[in-house]
Amino acid sequence: MLVTSTLHTTETTTSPEHRPDALLLHAPDGPDAAWWRHAVIYQIYPRSWADADGDGVGDLPGITNRLPYLRDLGVDAVWLSPFYRSPMADAGYDVADYRDIDPLFGSLSDATALLARAKELGLRVIVDLVPNHTSDEHEWFQAALAAGPGSPERERYIFREGSGPTGDEPPNNWLSVFRGPAWTQVQAGDPATGAKGQWYLNLFDSKQPDLNWQHPQVREEFHDILRFWLARGVDGFRVDVAHGLVKRAGLPAWDEASVMIDDHDGAGEREAIPTNAAPMWDQDGVHEIYRGWREVLDAANPAGDPAQDKILCAEAWVEPIDRLTLYTRRDEMHQAFNFPFLVTPWRAGELREVIAQSLRAADSVGAPTTWVLSNHDVVRHASRLGLPIGDPRPNGIGPNDTQPDAVVGLRRARAATTLMLGLPGSAYLYQGEELGLPESTQVPDDARQDPAWFRSGKTVLGRDGCRIPMAWEADAPALGFNDTGATWLPQPQEYRELAVDRQTGVPGSTLELYRTLLGARREHDLGTGGLRELPGYGDDVIAYVNEAHDGSHTAVLVNLGEQPAPLPSGRLVAASGELLGGALPTDTAAWVLLD
Ligand code: GLC
Repeated sequence: MLVTSTLHTTETTTSPEHRPDALLLHAPDGPDAAWWRHAVIYQIYPRSWADADGDGVGDLPGITNRLPYLRDLGVDAVWLSPFYRSPMADAGYDVADYRDIDPLFGSLSDATALLARAKELGLRVIVDLVPNHTSDEHEWFQAALAAGPGSPERERYIFREGSGPTGDEPPNNWLSVFRGPAWTQVQAGDPATGAKGQWYLNLFDSKQPDLNWQHPQVREEFHDILRFWLARGVDGFRVDVAHGLVKRAGLPAWDEASVMIDDHDGAGEREAIPTNAAPMWDQDGVHEIYRGWREVLDAANPAGDPAQDKILCAEAWVEPIDRLTLYTRRDEMHQAFNFPFLVTPWRAGELREVIAQSLRAADSVGAPTTWVLSNHDVVRHASRLGLPIGDPRPNGIGPNDTQPDAVVGLRRARAATTLMLGLPGSAYLYQGEELGLPESTQVPDDARQDPAWFRSGKTVLGRDGCRIPMAWEADAPALGFNDTGATWLPQPQEYRELAVDRQTGVPGSTLELYRTLLGARREHDLGTGGLRELPGYGDDVIAYVNEAHDGSHTAVLVNLGEQPAPLPSGRLVAASGELLGGALPTDTAAWVLLD
């Protein structure tokens, strides 16, 4: 299914043409824009990228060895999912010590080596920060359990008495994102006194108790953690569940499911209620926390040199999009993930709408927008886009579910990425998407590890299918992930043909398409360009001109219609699939450098 990309000049006799008076969706950044306004950031999921010690789980030395691959791919930065000391109840998003590396992944000196190597290669490094909850094995939580009800130690978390006549029911009706109640009772009653055990809030797993962000020690501790990693040379932080830290006072009842990642699993379309209607999400109190963090980050760049900026990126599943811009006001975070773009179905009108809205909303606060299609929490876009358009987005796909159409999915995924990388702003890539890796729909039930699988009584498949170890070499053990052949999740058959060594240097392969796109994006400064509509196309074609500050104009086109669309006159820079007599076929995208 590898297509041949033919780079040639295409003339068209039809009307599409760049008109400087066409609708301007976004004005260009200046040539000196800070790196994070246009960076392409590659997400490494450390468990699954490269495994140097051969135990079946990826590690930091493995990552360090493979970093040149990312330099050659042409990205600007990496974001590493958590590598901290953790009992791994949620794959490391349950942190027991924020200042140490889990032995599964290596040691602090391995982290230092990784950071140094990245710097040598010109790659920036963003680490994951998990402030909403700790692990239950964190020393603070252990101290809270030991100290008992009413103690100052319990104040750092959200402990409450139970409800109901005997206190054996949860304090309120909140549900966990991973299913089941959002409360866990810490101990059975004390028969001597008749006292019941208290309950603690966990919006995720029971092993992820929520911190109490009203507590000054919690706030100080995270300033200190930021400084700890800044001192080690990181370039920024991806902030986990950034919209969850502050809960509405009094913890009022909430009758809806606690949906963070809007998976619609069987629940049908939900009404669009603003996220902050829910007492656990997007409360206004979170913003003063981020203003404090911004001060810590800015203090790490006292000269204010944009090349030295340290950044914050919010993982905030917030709607409507204008609420998201509150996180990227000038004195808060630098970026927020654009999940509205990720969840938009493959329909031209809706995509155009979300792109225009994203740019408008981010511009209203002077922030860059971001673009993202895949990450470690959602079905990979090469599979997601192969599902019937408009169907609810599943939380995992199993062997008994409708299987995605792999050919259609990959074709659309390549087109979607070609669109995304042609847009101004910062873009996030998820490991393996540059190979066109599909979701694994064949994870055996007994290999599943996502806490949602267990908490849902094994009804919600969860996210394991997008977390499969990377495919490097088709004929090596574990496809080159390590040299022992051990993998913490099985690699599906179809990953073999997609391995890095099978695609390298192969014209038209997905990997070479990504390289071409990233190279041309850099060469023509598309990340800092202005964006204007390209008139002359019908409703089914998304057509823009990215106007770079060097005066070059790149048309970015995607055809979602059934009829081939003509290309404007100019030099074809990249195409996500083969052209049809010089025209753009269905589900295909192209960049044309205009004359
Ligand atoms: C974020 C992470 C996800 C994790 C959850 C709880 O959404 O991306 O993987 O399970 O937070 O920390």
